[in-house]
Amino acid sequence: MSANPLAAVIVLAAGEGSRMKSKALPKVLHPICGRSLLGHVVTAAEELAPEHLVVVIGHMKEQVAAHLADAHPQVHSVVQEEQRGTGHAARVALEALAVDGITLDGTVIVTYGDAPLLSAATLRELAGRHAAEGNGVTVLTAEVPDPRGYGRILRDPAGGAVTGIVEHKDADPVQLAITEINSGVYAFDGKLLAEALTRIGTDNTQGEEYLTDTLEILRSAGHRVGALVAADHREIVGINDRVQLAEARRLLNDRLLETAMRAGVTVVDPASTWIDAQVSYEPDAVVLPGTQLHGATHLGAGCQVGPHCTLTDTVVGAGATLTNAVVEQAEIGARATVGPFAYLRGGVVLGEKGKVGTFVEVKKSSIGAGAKVPHLSYMGDATIGEGANVGAACVTANWDGVNKNPTVIGAHARVGTDNMLIAPVTIGDGAYTGAGSVITNDVPPGALGVNRAQQRNIEGWVARKRPGTASDEAAAAALAKAAAEAPEA
Ligand code: UD1
Ligand code: CA
Repeated sequence: MSANPLAAVIVLAAGEGSRMKSKALPKVLHPICGRSLLGHVVTAAEELAPEHLVVVIGHMKEQVAAHLADAHPQVHSVVQEEQRGTGHAARVALEALAVDGITLDGTVIVTYGDAPLLSAATLRELAGRHAAEGNGVTVLTAEVPDPRGYGRILRDPAGGAVTGIVEHKDADPVQLAITEINSGVYAFDGKLLAEALTRIGTDNTQGEEYLTDTLEILRSAGHRVGALVAADHREIVGINDRVQLAEARRLLNDRLLETAMRAGVTVVDPASTWIDAQVSYEPDAVVLPGTQLHGATHLGAGCQVGPHCTLTDTVVGAGATLTNAVVEQAEIGARATVGPFAYLRGGVVLGEKGKVGTFVEVKKSSIGAGAKVPHLSYMGDATIGEGANVGAACVTANWDGVNKNPTVIGAHARVGTDNMLIAPVTIGDGAYTGAGSVITNDVPPGALGVNRAQQRNIEGWVARKRPGTASDEAAAAALAKAAAEAPEA
């Protein structure tokens, strides 16, 4: 086996992120488009298949480590106890690897945990440029409209070669006017990085070990220092506060929607449509305004979702239609319909051409092919056979206060309007139930189950008990009219 040319990606994520003003969540764990900020960075790094993927953590390290162990178990988390600068963070990473007997031989990419828009393609291009030019270090730079706060790229006025980076806080007025900035992403030769990190000092305004100093150190030692200017400066933005968090979310969402549209999905209103990075789709899916697609949601060919649907971890079959629905962990069959105004949750399987209609809630149930629950119902823990119909306003009484109990409705059964199905209960295949029934006992296949009181009419009750009311007058007029029209005896 040939050695992996990419020895490692090191993600720096130990900083506090105080401008997020968050007591609950470290900066890098704030989510956008279905992943944490750090998750986006790690996912891009994973696409490059480095031999080692290291994340340097510090601030709220327990929470970050737990998140990584859960979502990205192959990541090697290294703790930087005190945040003494980006150079120090990189050094801590290399030292931790050395303890495990690992020296990085080959290209090492260093990037930040709070820059979620950086694509794997750009990282790959950076590593490629670095290798092709035989550089000691290659820095990803960008031309930005507002360079405030960023390190500025210093270039040799003669040849244009990069000579170093000066931090905003350390820059003189001439340097402050430079608009080419340091993204904070670099490809290094692993051995040269290790060497350079032992030589950086803290002689700067912030008294920190700057990773940026390695450029000057390597150049002075006679190594090539290269640069790749990012094609789109928006790709390198780091998130420092919640305003930037919203901007990044919008940018990433736009990018994900563009990919979906280029793959054949119609998105009627990108401005009001939100999509997570894990969402997948097939051509001719149509997404109507006000729709949110979360998690591992999949849109089948030619389905229509929206307006105003929120789908989480839901598979939508080909040609299915969902309108004004909130759907979680569901599998919607081909050409099935859901809504308007439906709520499906907790594991619902809706068969091909099945229907969950208006003001219907379904929880943890399966509804067979062609079966319908069209109006105003609650079905929980139910198994509904193919071709069955559940009349308007039916409820499964699935909870006895302690346990959840199942309801089975057989194939092609007809549950009458306004039934109360007291679970556990089974309505057999092809059985009917009378409207308004409270079904407490099983109904055998083909039987009619009815459970309601016989109706009785008490003649003249209104005239006796509500005399002189509008009801009494209306009744009297109707009775007089009927008497007049009655054939003479
Ligand atoms: C850094 C760069 C600057 C660049 C900018 C791009 C340096 C010295 N400066 O500045 O040239 O333009 O990024 O956004 O590198 N971190 C640690 N441990 C530490 C310090 C930082 O893990 O001890 C992590 C932070 O969590 C963060 C990243 O490194 O993800 C950058 O640190 P930050 O302090 O924000 O650097 P900048 O001042 O933005
Ligand atoms: Ca920063």
